[in-house]
Amino acid sequence: MNGPMIRVADLRKSFRSKKVHDGISFEVREGETLTVIGGSGSGKSVLLKQVVGLIRPDSGGIVIAGQDITRLDEDGLQAVQKKMGYVFQEAALFDSMTVAENVAFGLCSLMDCDAGSAFKIAKQRLSLVGLYDIENLRPSQLSGGMKKRVGIARAIAMGPEILLYDEPTTGLDPVMSDVVSELILRLKMQSGTTTIAVTHDMKSAYKISDRIAMLYEGKILEIGAPEEIRRSKNPIVQQFITGSSQGPIPVPKV
Ligand SMILES: Nc1ncnc2c1ncn2[C@@H]1O[C@H](COP(=O)(O)OP(=O)(O)OP(=O)(O)O)[C@@H](O)[C@H]1O
Ligand SMILES: [Mg+2]
Repeated sequence: MNGPMIRVADLRKSFRSKKVHDGISFEVREGETLTVIGGSGSGKSVLLKQVVGLIRPDSGGIVIAGQDITRLDEDGLQAVQKKMGYVFQEAALFDSMTVAENVAFGLCSLMDCDAGSAFKIAKQRLSLVGLYDIENLRPSQLSGGMKKRVGIARAIAMGPEILLYDEPTTGLDPVMSDVVSELILRLKMQSGTTTIAVTHDMKSAYKISDRIAMLYEGKILEIGAPEEIRRSKNPIVQQFITGSSQGPIPVPKV
């Protein structure tokens, strides 16, 4: 397509007196992976939720594949949402449903699927994330890493052009974290998916990203290729990416 796949322009969002986003602008090209890093509470999840249309911004534009979703009604928004897969921070699987029902949920709420075809679709999507023979289990019977991958299987169920990942590797062991990072890379390579990932796992960020943006105090403090971020001279960026308690970022006294 002409122009970027995602364009966020001067985005502002507050909750009561708390200013979360204070003028955020960036673009993501078709097929590109942008990773957003930043401390806990810096507004990473709220940013993704605005891009996917779950939260409305106070002002600013969010253009997805040429359409400003802040100006769309519910039907228009839903049409754009079909292009997007969203991997929630907390997996957000329905405990009352089987794994297969969870994975096929979005697909089958859009077009009628009988139980047999839903199961088949779920099985195929689960194999893409390396999960086999778990279709009839409940989410409560899965490990954290399996839940994350089921969340990804559900997000890719409809073959989205855009994938949004909220903390895809948080809480996983280092090996499983790398497995999920590899999976994110593979999905991008195979399908040319445009991706925004949110994480504070720097190893994963360096691996999966074409560019990295750091959110700080409501703004994008720095944006650039992984190597540029790694070599940033900004002391706030350096403190964050090296994970030090010493530096300009305020930390609680313990
Ligand atoms: N629905 C909401 N209502 C009110 N405040 C909210 C809401 N959602 C988020 N916030 C506030 O917005 C700020 C940013 O939250 P957000 O969840 O985006 O942080 P985050 O960067 O994703 O943090 P973490 O790394 O811990 O997941 C926080 O102060 C949070 O309390
Ligand atoms: Mg979050």
